Amino acid sequence: SHEQMKIALEHSFLVVTLWCIKDNNKQLIGFIRAVSDHVYNATLWDVVIHPDFQSQGLGKALIQYTLQKLRQRNIENITLFAGSKAVNFYHHLGFITDPNGIKGMFWVSP
Ligand SMILES: CC(C)(COP(=O)(O)OP(=O)(O)OC[C@H]1O[C@@H](n2cnc3c(N)ncnc32)[C@H](O)[C@@H]1OP(=O)(O)O)[C@@H](O)C(=O)NCCC(=O)NCCS
Repeated sequence: SHEQMKIALEHSFLVVTLWCIKDNNKQLIGFIRAVSDHVYNATLWDVVIHPDFQSQGLGKALIQYTLQKLRQRNIENITLFAGSKAVNFYHHLGFITDPNGIKGMFWVSP
């Protein structure tokens, strides 16, 4: 629900939005958020660029800006869950799959 999303955003460590400003109009065109323990780890969620604005380098810029902000806070372990179509996008930005054989695992509620 809307209320649940509000709580999730309020408890995120970092939220970055990207806007297109044109002729007094402001349009939200990009979004990313990170949750974090504030010391060691951060995980990126909800990475999205508006379809009309994709493939122009904005997704790359959004991730790079976010990585810079997290590293300024000395957070070294930055993880994410990539949809199968986004895996190569993240590889391109330096993310690696299964470092040292470590697998991401999920508890799927019964
Ligand atoms: C995935 C997404 C965030 C990428 O943003 P974008 O602004 O379109 O990507 P960019 O233009 O910044 O691309 C950066 C680089 O990655 C490459 N790239 C982009 N999408 C790619 C993909 N799906 N697979 C492989 N490479 C990709 C681009 O060619 C570009 O390469 P370059 O730096 O050599 O020019 C965006 O397409 C999106 O919002 N998709 C729908 C939602 C989604 O899948 N989110 C991720 C959920 S895990």
